[in-house]
Amino acid sequence: MKHLIDIKDLSVEEIDDLIKTAKDIMANKEKYSEKCKNKILATLFFEPSTRTRLSFESAMLGLGGKVIGFSDAANSSTSKGESVSDTVRTVSCYSDIIAMRHPKEGAPMVVSKTSNVPIINAGDGGHNHPTQTLTDLLTINCEKGRFSDLTIGLCGDLKFGRTVHSLITAMSRYKNVKFVLISPNELKVPDYIKKEVLDKNNIEWCETQDIEEYMDKLDILYMTRVQRERFFNEADYVRLKDYYILNEEKLAKAKKDLKILHPLPRVNEIAKEVDNDPRACYFKQVEYGRYIRMALILKLLEIK
Ligand code: NCD
Repeated sequence: MKHLIDIKDLSVEEIDDLIKTAKDIMANKEKYSEKCKNKILATLFFEPSTRTRLSFESAMLGLGGKVIGFSDAANSSTSKGESVSDTVRTVSCYSDIIAMRHPKEGAPMVVSKTSNVPIINAGDGGHNHPTQTLTDLLTINCEKGRFSDLTIGLCGDLKFGRTVHSLITAMSRYKNVKFVLISPNELKVPDYIKKEVLDKNNIEWCETQDIEEYMDKLDILYMTRVQRERFFNEADYVRLKDYYILNEEKLAKAKKDLKILHPLPRVNEIAKEVDNDPRACYFKQVEYGRYIRMALILKLLEIK
């Protein structure tokens, strides 16, 4: 049984295959419209979501399957004190595949150990978010045409931003990828990622607090929101929330073929004016997310 808990559960070859399938789906939607007939996806979201949950649901519906689930744990038996593993065990009797989001780091991994249907980690606390990374990878592949020889700027909340952690892990497997880590001191990439991922793979990386310092070097600028829900104290959040606001002035020195990504939701970190910049890709990225999730569902359900 294959689950997707961490992006490294997929080999580089498997990611290539998913991207190939996602591109084929984009070009031939009809061909896939019945592939998951009689299959049921359950979406169990113990934390808020718009894109991830709805893109999973839309992906399954696009494959001709059906969808059940909840988007608010307060309406589920969790509010009666049921454990996550009992909830998942129950839901696996009603479904063929489960996408779950949970505030506790490691929760999807724990339930995957006893689940008899594939579990997809749709975000676990401030830890990982592998399907956002698949979305980011398809975006990079379609918009830049390659995974190698890229300088990637990651900006914002690099400490709690789970999409950042999974993206660094994924991109560290390609040739000549460099990272510029742009964050306030308090929100730097965790040490375990620097040691276990960046240094272990001999990746070139640097840190700065200044979003403009390396702007002219970047091929990709990945903006992120300050993760309010992970802060212990509101005053710290308020102090840091508007640390970066990307606007046209800050992009003055950027390459013409820079691609600006953001997992969304955006709060203030990208000014509205940037939406009309041809380098802005974050809404296209949303669209790519649906197709790569379609490809992932097919893979985990072993449907050709
Ligand atoms: C991200 C997440 O949930 O981690 N959103 C998403 O899934 N697209 C990013 C965020 O919430 O800031």
